[in-house]
Amino acid sequence: RPATRQYHEKVIDHYSRPRNVGTLDKKDQSVGEGLVGAPACGDVMRLHIKVDPETQVISDVRFKTFGCGSAIASSSYLTELVRGMTLDQASKVKNTEIAQELCLPPVKLHCSMLAEDAIKSAINNYYKKNPQAKQTNLAGT
Ligand code: FES
Ligand code: FES
Repeated sequence: RPATRQYHEKVIDHYSRPRNVGTLDKKDQSVGEGLVGAPACGDVMRLHIKVDPETQVISDVRFKTFGCGSAIASSSYLTELVRGMTLDQASKVKNTEIAQELCLPPVKLHCSMLAEDAIKSAINNYYKKNPQAKQTNLAGT
């Protein structure tokens, strides 16, 4: 059953060797923190992004997830996806994109939703700390 094997490979790879686990210094003005929970199961994800104030590009990203294997794999994949993106690009990342890449089954869709919520929350937190950055972004769109 090749489809099943593919699902396991991608999720297990990110789950057993998660990328970018850890934290950044959230007292740093250029670091935004996202902290979200999944209402369906109580799993929790914390995401830190470091943003280049000049370019608004995410230069570094770390996560800690207290949750299921799919949530950990989703966080790990998310960190690889958004590194190097602008805040504007990263704010458009959809959980369906993550779920598709990892071939998550429907019952695990909310695990990837946690990752989408986490990046949105981290971006909002960055804007809260750097209100002028949001102005610039809005002016540019
Ligand atoms: Fe059981 Fe997330 S609810 S691992
Ligand atoms: Fe709840 Fe995966 S089971 S995040």
